[in-house]
Amino acid sequence: MKAPVLVAGSANLDFVVRAPHVPAPGETVLGRDFATFPGGKGANQAVACARAGGVATRMLLALGDDPYATVLEAALVDAGVATHIVRAPDVASGTAFICLSDDAENAITVAPGANAALRPHHLPSLFGVTHLLLQLETPLDAVASFAHVAHAAGVHVLLNAAPATALPPLLLQDVDLLVVNEGELAALAGPGTLVAQMSRLPVPCVVATLGARGCVARRGGELFLQPAFRIDAVDTTAAGDTFCGALAARLAQHAPLADALRFASAASALACTRLGAQASIPARDEVDAWLAAQVEAPDHKAALAAYCGITGSD
Ligand code: RIB
Repeated sequence: MKAPVLVAGSANLDFVVRAPHVPAPGETVLGRDFATFPGGKGANQAVACARAGGVATRMLLALGDDPYATVLEAALVDAGVATHIVRAPDVASGTAFICLSDDAENAITVAPGANAALRPHHLPSLFGVTHLLLQLETPLDAVASFAHVAHAAGVHVLLNAAPATALPPLLLQDVDLLVVNEGELAALAGPGTLVAQMSRLPVPCVVATLGARGCVARRGGELFLQPAFRIDAVDTTAAGDTFCGALAARLAQHAPLADALRFASAASALACTRLGAQASIPARDEVDAWLAAQVEAPDHKAALAAYCGITGSD
């Protein structure tokens, strides 16, 4: 099947408990309601890309030999994602254990399960693929190999370097666009202002997501600032994944970077207003309608620029 965006990565069934606060080490917290949701950074990003519309989305993933696999596959198919599934016999599908606090904070522990079975030779044909979207919940050697093969084939490689980990030395040379949060950026680039950190990375375009502040991108010598939209967050799980998938979809449709950042920020903001990972990801029409009603205040941009360490000379 010809699909311009290929996502390769993880799929997890999320086990979510709501609680007054996230427990500290050694603490037991009495939570409240429990629910399961399809999740996993890779699958969430594939769903976000498909829901952003306008571009066919395919996903390479590995699933286990259990009933969770059926749920995870169905969620992707329902969202319109074409799947390329590696079946891992005698292994459980990926799972994630999430404590969600009343102030919308979370703590997540992932049991990779079948996600660990994804190997370099599993990359499907790149015929018709223009953008490959990767994350770091599957084995690093496979991620690096997928990036290398795709880059050599002229495919745009987008990497969301999450969760934070040390990267194989040559991986960033094969990346066209890197998406990181502040912690991930500091882990890769060391200390300094955000713009200094971004300029230190050998990637043509770096996007730093800054939670409730918004995001900043550096492409060559150009800087792009997108303040966050104001929302009442109930669950920030998959906010970053929604951003990445929506961004990939818009870029694959040749949207200018500033427009793609605005759309991705809006999709991510809307996802924070609902429970669950894939369950929270909005569709294109909803994002467009919501965006049409938003007014961006110039002082938000100025505050974001100051936070990023942007001076008049940047
Ligand atoms: O980014 C959110 C995701 O991280 C969750 O859906 C969970 O599965 C973990 O992978």
